[in-house]
Amino acid sequence: MLQLDSHPTGRHFLQIPGPSPVPDRILRALSLPTIDHRGPEFGALGRKVLAGIRQVFKTQHPVVIYPASGTGAWEAALSNTLSPGDHVLMFETGHFASLWQKMAARLGISTEFLVYGGTDADLPQAPGWRHGVQADLIEARLRKDTGKKIKAVCVVHNETSTGVTSDIASVRRAIDAAGHPALLMVDSISGLASADFRHDEWGVDVTISGSQKGLMLPPGISFNAISPRALDAMKSATLPRSFWAWDEIVEMNKDGYWPYTPNTNLLYGLSESLDMLLGEGLDNVFARHQRWGAGVRAAVNAWGLPIQCADPAVYSPVLTGVITPEGIDADAVRRLIHQRFDLSLGTGLGKLKGRMFRMGHLGDSNDLTLVAMVAGVEMGLKLSGVKLAGSGVQASMDYFAGHAAPAALQKAA
Ligand SMILES: Cc1ncc(COP(=O)(O)O)c(C=O)c1O
Repeated sequence: MLQLDSHPTGRHFLQIPGPSPVPDRILRALSLPTIDHRGPEFGALGRKVLAGIRQVFKTQHPVVIYPASGTGAWEAALSNTLSPGDHVLMFETGHFASLWQKMAARLGISTEFLVYGGTDADLPQAPGWRHGVQADLIEARLRKDTGKKIKAVCVVHNETSTGVTSDIASVRRAIDAAGHPALLMVDSISGLASADFRHDEWGVDVTISGSQKGLMLPPGISFNAISPRALDAMKSATLPRSFWAWDEIVEMNKDGYWPYTPNTNLLYGLSESLDMLLGEGLDNVFARHQRWGAGVRAAVNAWGLPIQCADPAVYSPVLTGVITPEGIDADAVRRLIHQRFDLSLGTGLGKLKGRMFRMGHLGDSNDLTLVAMVAGVEMGLKLSGVKLAGSGVQASMDYFAGHAAPAALQKAA
């Protein structure tokens, strides 16, 4: 008899917004033999990935790679730059911004949480969770801080719980306009390598990221990109840190090594991922995700369901959140889609539990896998009794057919 837990035929549709589907090329690289992490071959690998990852962050400065999930890299950013009791300004864009705020509070940092000022189209239980960071509120708050007590401004670039990509350059302009010395720390765990990101140009002091989203790797490594100002802040920061401490890592990274045992096989994968992303060109990578996002949103609009992000200017190229009609449990819809079609969607997190689901459009995907995802969701919505205004599958097909990918046009020429 068929075991219910046996692996179904065909590929599982991993359409959560990370971990993202891992390309076969990367899976093969991960399976290379583990080598001596103090030997010469490892040094060459270390130097290669440390140089390559700087290009992805668009920085000339050090990027530290931790054998940890993104949460670890959040803690590293805070503990290397701040002291107990320091005051930081954060912005509530969604669940991940809230988790980072909770972590900061647990570390003994005094946190202040700004929230979107408007009321338009917000779900009442989650005010602000349909919008991006509002730089004017940050500027106004910093201007009031005449004693310069605020040590850092912390924002999430791509809020994975909602599908909103905030304008980080505008936050830097706000800090500068207020003439404030606060550090700018940005979580781009799900933005990096999918959405445009420029650590140096946008004057970010610490960028936090992870392996399992745009880099198309399994979970398990995470990053801090560090500006000279942040390295300087480390010298006087007194929060306890040991494993996360940048100084020893940055020093040993100069030769391609780590003070502890690094995640060798994930670094093989990172090396392959960098070859793929930099080979394609980051601008092409960003354009590809923008196009994917537009094709998936065409489906949601055709269904007549609201997109979680209420501001088209900040639609995420990485994922699209879909609000289910009142009385329809979004998690029940997700479960049904998983059982019937072997397709995993992201759940509504925190305050959005049961009210929405998330469709990922990142990682090893293409037009046809995304149309298949849309088909699975459309069937699941109908089976759950949701009345749809029209066919999302048709709308996605029309979008992708009508907007050829530049790479496909090149091949045809
Ligand atoms: C924006 C964002 N921040 C932080 C995290 C936490 O990272 P991790 O689960 O890798 O610890 C995630 C995970 O999805 C995320 O999407």
